[in-house]
Amino acid sequence: MRHDHIISAKQLSRADIASVLDRAAEIDEDPGAVADRHSGKLLGTLFFEPSTRTKMSFTAAMKRLGGDIVDMGPVDQSSVKKGESLADTVRVVEGYADALVMRHPLEGSAKMASEFVDVPLINAGDGAGQHPTQTLLDLYTIRESAGFDDLTVGIMGDLKYGRTVHSMAHALTNFDAQQHFVSPESLKLPRGVRYDLHEAGASMREHTDLNEVLDTLDVLYVTRIQRERFPDENEYREVAGQYQIDADTLAAAKDDLVVMHPLPRVDEIAPDVDETDHAHYFQQAHNGVPVRMALLDLILEDST
Ligand code: NCD
Repeated sequence: MRHDHIISAKQLSRADIASVLDRAAEIDEDPGAVADRHSGKLLGTLFFEPSTRTKMSFTAAMKRLGGDIVDMGPVDQSSVKKGESLADTVRVVEGYADALVMRHPLEGSAKMASEFVDVPLINAGDGAGQHPTQTLLDLYTIRESAGFDDLTVGIMGDLKYGRTVHSMAHALTNFDAQQHFVSPESLKLPRGVRYDLHEAGASMREHTDLNEVLDTLDVLYVTRIQRERFPDENEYREVAGQYQIDADTLAAAKDDLVVMHPLPRVDEIAPDVDETDHAHYFQQAHNGVPVRMALLDLILEDST
């Protein structure tokens, strides 16, 4: 990989994506082969926002490469509580680890923090900005299920605040993919993201009704309404509960439609979908380990 810091999916070329996905597939085949590969290495984890999958799968990934993690712990028990700036925190913590993973509620924070450190910094979500490692595991899931040839993807839900959407939509411009964005008017893609997608040559359309495109889709990527990012709870209530799918909804879809979700889900996908062959979201979450192992392996290999 050419990049030390992984901040945005925009920096990932098709070749970068292929190198991570190919490495992940090798690791998936034979995880034992890399069990000691990075013994003695430490990954610093700084989560200023809640996380289950991202934090645990990065931890599992580092440990399965023979390394370990040093974790900042909950924000309210860290020096952030005493008023320490993000710049100071990362400058200190880079002395404790060979690479850093950071999640923070402010868009742009990962980029800013990366300017203060020499060890590689991986953005695990910066507010409504980007979440590039989620995209890598999402792409891995697509490659293993629908494949990348002549792909039609629907991305539905909170396209305004959903950072997984922003990263994914950009990464898909590297492939021959038609993208359909489905959301309420108020949660459409932000203007800046739409502009970037056009600049990158995206083939895309926007919709408010899933039924306009459902039967054309190979992949449906469903997302949670990002309640914590709404400035006004009433605005959230206006859109909450819309854009749900259940097994009946999917009767109109292709038999081999792949339904994905970065998780956690709230009520966007009814539990009756879990029993269908469409459900790929738990496998998707599990793919986080080999994909993050691959990414860490490539980054740590380069930085030594
Ligand atoms: C996502 C996130 O944090 O952006 N979660 C994840 O990392 N799998 C999606 C979400 O919180 O809705």
